[in-house]
Amino acid sequence: MAAEYVFSKIKNADRVVLGLATGRTPLGMYRHLSKYSKEYKLSLSHVHTVNLDEYVGSKAYHAYMHQNVFDPIGIPNHQTHIPDGYAVDLEKECMRYEAVIQQLGGIDLQVLGIGENGHIGFNEPGTDFSSRTHVVELTESTLSANAKYFTREKQPRKAITMGIGTILESKEILLLAAGLKKAHAVRELFKGSLNENIPATVLNHHPNVTVIADRGARSLLE
Ligand code: F6R
Repeated sequence: MAAEYVFSKIKNADRVVLGLATGRTPLGMYRHLSKYSKEYKLSLSHVHTVNLDEYVGSKAYHAYMHQNVFDPIGIPNHQTHIPDGYAVDLEKECMRYEAVIQQLGGIDLQVLGIGENGHIGFNEPGTDFSSRTHVVELTESTLSANAKYFTREKQPRKAITMGIGTILESKEILLLAAGLKKAHAVRELFKGSLNENIPATVLNHHPNVTVIADRGARSLLE
């Protein structure tokens, strides 16, 4: 469903800036998008992408994006953007990334996953709702959810993430949630009120959000 949603945006636009997420949840969407782009033989020269985040001192999300998205789907390399977790000056890199988004004219459709603790991007609980791209210290909850991807010594404890304010400026947002572990955060989001301790609740402030959630993630909704 998510792939059809994104694909119709790609098909119907002359130019589109997609904000993209990594993680387990969007993998099925990327697989289907790759199938569609082959079936329709669609040129993707009008697609630009900006990723939500990258670990500091790692290229894990660069590798993920090339393997699962850019190479199989066929998005021109120079039109893809991911924060540089190896930048010598991380503060400067955050500013550069904000400027990249501005120069692209902003994000047309931002795809988000959701953390067990309600994070969006790597904006952990308590992050200011007006924050811009910044360096974060990951919480224990996020570190343990992602521990399976790293050896213990090599797991990065910091990341660069688009800020909540940056994400909110996207014209449209598509949030994907899968599995029972996300049910609590999804329930908080659907309560409709804002809570800085559950960052995803800020989406109640955005005029154009679509949520696609599986049965597990919906299980605590009335
Ligand atoms: C990934 C990102 C994160 C994930 C979230 C859910 O770029 O920004 O917010 O979307 O941690 O991850 P999964 O899908 O692995 O459960």
